[in-house]
Amino acid sequence: MATTTRITVKASGTYDILLNKGSLSDIGQALKERFKPCSIAVLSDDKVFPLYGKTVTESLDKAGFTTVSHVIPNGEQSKTLDNVTSFISRMVDAQITRTDMVIALGGGVIGDMAGFAAAIYLRGIPYIQVPTTLLAAVDSSVGGKTAVDISAGKNLIGAFHQPALVYLDTDTLSTLDPQVMRDGFAEVIKYGIILDRKLFDTVAKTGSFDLKSVIARCIEIKRDVVEADEFDKGMRGLLNFGHTFGHAIEKLSGFTITHGSAVARGMIVAAKVARVYGFTDYTDVITKVVRDYGFETECPYSADQLYSVILSDKKRAGADITLVLPKSIGACTLEKMPATQVLELMKKAGL
Ligand SMILES: NC(=O)c1ccc[n+]([C@@H]2O[C@H](COP(=O)([O-])OP(=O)(O)OC[C@H]3O[C@@H](n4cnc5c(N)ncnc54)[C@H](O)[C@@H]3O)[C@@H](O)[C@H]2O)c1
Repeated sequence: MATTTRITVKASGTYDILLNKGSLSDIGQALKERFKPCSIAVLSDDKVFPLYGKTVTESLDKAGFTTVSHVIPNGEQSKTLDNVTSFISRMVDAQITRTDMVIALGGGVIGDMAGFAAAIYLRGIPYIQVPTTLLAAVDSSVGGKTAVDISAGKNLIGAFHQPALVYLDTDTLSTLDPQVMRDGFAEVIKYGIILDRKLFDTVAKTGSFDLKSVIARCIEIKRDVVEADEFDKGMRGLLNFGHTFGHAIEKLSGFTITHGSAVARGMIVAAKVARVYGFTDYTDVITKVVRDYGFETECPYSADQLYSVILSDKKRAGADITLVLPKSIGACTLEKMPATQVLELMKKAGL
């Protein structure tokens, strides 16, 4: 096994992110070194649990923890309050107490749900993220945002609840569907554009980099952003680069365009908007990397179509919209403007 990379997050809770290759079967030992023996409720999905559930629970059992597992169908449609309630019922049956823990074994869906269940069960118990998708590794497992979806929209019910540990074995990413892996790379590219030119240059050379080092760098960036703005009142908004337009594209497609693919196109739209806003033009640079990763680069929707969705998404936040725009690669800024200006800029950008 390679050496473990440890990244520490100092937010309302201080915790480590342990990053390694081939370390999943050692999770029990790693937890034993940090936590007292306790019961652990493992939440996972029906794709991930058959692949990794046994390795995790056997390792925990061997290290003296007692485990109870709860497996739900995979996919975004499972990120519901009902599934959180059924997981909590399972914890009640297993007599999980405040001194016990939850483990999220899976991608962002499982991480968000397990984190939310841990945030509200008995007014909050500790939880550990074991991310198994690239998106969860570089983004959702770090930072303490937990949530479920309701019919009115995604992530509308949730809580800030920092994990007690993030334990990542990059070997688990080897079983991902190529499209899920690629979607994760949209977020990796995003980190490079918003805050790290060197990371961008590294990932722009597709296939010729060390994945573990790239993931570690993304986590460091997320750590820095979370430490500066844990509760999302300012610079954490930078992480939304490509997402305002991306969410609109995703929604307009009836979710047939995947999240990563929509964000990838959303980053190109943001670059076009930045150009007409008066910033240097990085459209070609961003389009090239997006294309090199195999994403479509054309936005199939007009400025008016995108605007109608952006407006309905932003109603709760008032008439102003904050766009994340690239000033240069590795330096994005938050630009607050009246909603109507966003429409004008998109039209001027040729959308
Ligand atoms: N909390 C945050 O800060 C934050 C940030 C970004 C995204 N999110 C949330 O993350 C979610 C998306 O996460 P995601 O992209 O990981 O999706 P996901 O959890 O649905 O996983 C994608 C698919 O990959 C499968 N899978 C997971 N790990 C696997 C593995 N190792 N091998 C084979 N298959 C595997 C899953 O079963 C699922 O079918 C969304 O709900 C989004 O809102 C949260």
